[in-house]
Order: sequence, then structure tokens, then C-alpha cells
Amino acid sequence: MTLENKLGITDAVELARVEERISKAKAHHLFASGRLDTLEAGTFQALAEIHKFLFDEIYDFAGKIRTVNIAKGSFRFAPVMYLEAALKNIETMPQSTFDEIIEKYVEMNIAHPFREGNGRSTRIWLDLILKKELQKVVDWSHVDKNDYLLAMERSPVKDIEIKFLLQRALTDKINDSDVYMKGIDASYYYEGYAVYKVEDLGE
Ligand SMILES: Nc1ncnc2c1ncn2[C@@H]1O[C@H](COP(=O)(O)OP(=O)(O)OP(=O)(O)O)[C@@H](O)[C@H]1O
Ligand SMILES: [Mg+2]
Repeated sequence: MTLENKLGITDAVELARVEERISKAKAHHLFASGRLDTLEAGTFQALAEIHKFLFDEIYDFAGKIRTVNIAKGSFRFAPVMYLEAALKNIETMPQSTFDEIIEKYVEMNIAHPFREGNGRSTRIWLDLILKKELQKVVDWSHVDKNDYLLAMERSPVKDIEIKFLLQRALTDKINDSDVYMKGIDASYYYEGYAVYKVEDLGE
């Protein structure tokens, strides 16, 4: 089943391809225009604006909190019922050290506020915090995608692996658009990709 979209695409492979092309162009524009730097690092508002900017041409839910419960693999992300409270709490988490920033990122991933596109938008959100607080970003070309997915799957239980992977990949090339764009490669090219199991709440 294909996610309902503004483009009227009903084929999942075509949607993935078109979504990737459009969101990448948008992500590039977000960076190159300087608009990204105007967002307030670490807030949900910043993440919602990133998501809206990337996916507005594709999905009605761009920038909006999801209305269904979702799971990947055996992990259930935050139930819709607790999502707003979770997001408020996450915003108040400290972000002055590398460890604190990754802990905040892990919590935001557990929240998974959107119906789709959480990975890409939250990686941009993470980079924005690292850039502001540490004058560093992740060079995603130095992060193996399978290692990353395994570490993210593990992160709700133990965050040592994701901290290790991302720390190793930190760079001070904070204004390099190639470094930035590497984080927006979607994981569906990789074996670790899993689609969401959705529980429809009937809105
Ligand atoms: N089992 C899991 N447990 C926790 N987090 C997971 C799990 N599987 C994937 N993730 C996280 O969710 C992200 C994928 O979320 P989603 O599919 O909403 O966004 P996306 O932009 O399409 O993702 P991506 O570009 O990362 O494939 C991954 O990048 C990873 O950070
Ligand atoms: Mg996805």
C-alpha cells in the first residue's frame, strides 16, 4: 500500500523515487538559502519547519504531528496519545555537550513525530544543534548506513553505539553542502530498511 500523497502516485517504488528527488532538492535549498540557520536549534518547531520544507509538495502531513501509532521492526515509537507531552519534554533537554545532544536526538527518534520522513528531517535537526553548540556537524559519508541503522535500533536501550559512530564522524566542515547532503540519503537503498507497521486510530 502506498502512502497517500499530493502527487497522486500509487506505485510505491515511483513514490520513493520522486519523494527522494524532491526532498533532496528542497533540503539543498534549505541549506544554500541560509534559511536553515534561522531556525532555533533543538526546538520541535525547528524540526517541524525542516519537515514541512522538505515534504510539503508531497504530503499533506508535512510538518504535522502524526495521528497514527507506528512501529519499525519490533520497536513502537511514542504513542500518539503521549506524543505532544514527549515533544515538550524533549525540547527542554540540555544540548551543551556532544553526549547531551545525542541523548536528545535519540529521544526525538523515539518520539518519531511524523508519519514518514523522520530520519532525514531529524538528521538535519541534529546537525543544526551540533553546528550551533559545538561548531561541528556529522560527516555522514563516514557513517556506514547499516551500522547507523543498527545503532539507531539499539539506541532506545543503549546509546553507546550511536554516540561512538557519530563522534568518530564529526567534522568542522559546517558550511560544506556535500557533507550536509550526505545525511539526506534515504535508507531505503540499504538492507536495513523496514516499512512501518501502522495502527490506524481512525483519526
Ligand atoms: N527499529 C528502529 N528503532 C528505532 N529507530 C529506528 C528503527 N528503524 C529505523 N529507525 C530510525 O528511523 C529512521 C527512519 O525514519 P523514517 O522512515 O520516518 O524517515 P526517512 O526520512 O524516510 O528515513 P531514512 O532516510 O532514515 O530512511 C532511521 O533513520 C532511524 O534513525
Ligand atoms: Mg522512510
